[in-house]
Amino acid sequence: MLTGGGDAPGLNAAICGLGRRLWRAGHRLVGFPEGWRGLIEGEATDLGPEQFHDLLTRGGSILGSGSASPYRESKRDVPRILAVFRRLGLDALVAIGGDGTLKSACRLHREEGLPVVGVPKTIDNDVAGTDFAFGFFSAVERATRAMDDLRTTAESHSRVIVVECMGRNSGWITAYAGVAAAAEAILVPERPVDLDELCERLGALHRSGRRAAIVAAAEGARLYLGKRCISSLERDEFGQYLTGGVAEVVARHVQERLGWEARPMVLGHLQRCGKPIAFDRIFALRLGARAAGLVLAGRFGRMAALRNGELSDIPLEEAIAEPSTLSEHFLDRYENFFLPISHR
Ligand code: F6P
Repeated sequence: MLTGGGDAPGLNAAICGLGRRLWRAGHRLVGFPEGWRGLIEGEATDLGPEQFHDLLTRGGSILGSGSASPYRESKRDVPRILAVFRRLGLDALVAIGGDGTLKSACRLHREEGLPVVGVPKTIDNDVAGTDFAFGFFSAVERATRAMDDLRTTAESHSRVIVVECMGRNSGWITAYAGVAAAAEAILVPERPVDLDELCERLGALHRSGRRAAIVAAAEGARLYLGKRCISSLERDEFGQYLTGGVAEVVARHVQERLGWEARPMVLGHLQRCGKPIAFDRIFALRLGARAAGLVLAGRFGRMAALRNGELSDIPLEEAIAEPSTLSEHFLDRYENFFLPISHR
């Protein structure tokens, strides 16, 4: 097994669920350090019940995580992976990761016939085919608490605080934390942000007597002044817009336009560090155990998933088809029912 991409709370719990079920069925489990790098380089570590003992509660990944990909140097690395598989006599590979990790896992299954099973992990919650990935709700909890806490200082000083959340090009963390913390505005990548409109709404609230405002801003939100996009047009290696720097721009604009003091706050890695919340511990444990079940049944090319609240599994192809983003329905609901109303 390996844990790929950015870490997320619950990785160790997933390893625990996977490992315990496989051990009970009489199998051995080895882990590859730092995601695909460990597998490509054939650095396997034995994982046994003594390691599983306190895994459930721990943050991070005992194996380390990393963003190496077998397809960056595919001519060299894919044959190396196949050789490691043969040399170690592996029966299956469980890849725990987000979009990038699962894409590579799917390709190795489809093109090389490797017996692969996936487990969805990401604070961004952008893996398709599953209601949620583990790690997401721990990140939401942290972001919500940060917004609650920031509100007290915002109120003391009568300020706007623009809180930037992670999520790359999906607004899940921002939207959930923003709604939970009763943010005055929520800016997500799924809807272009009109800065003038934002200032009008904040200005109306300020005039109606509100001392403080929290603006929940996704790192991937796209900012517009009229028709002009003022966010970066640079893209990453997957063709996605580069993210970040949103809170700074929004806070500066709000302060200049409204004369209402505004501060940016980037939550950054605080959203994915530390122990998972109880829900993610149990959820990841169950997803890991489900992945073990898939391995034991020889049902490869599949990913453990949550579907309509039930633990299930889906083809890996489905999980990587399109990133999961916020629905129009969710966004309409927020705008129509959850936004504060100015009352003067
Ligand atoms: O994909 C998870 C994530 O935490 C994103 O929300 C964020 O943009 C990115 O990883 C940060 O990556 P890094 O840890 O490499 O800075």
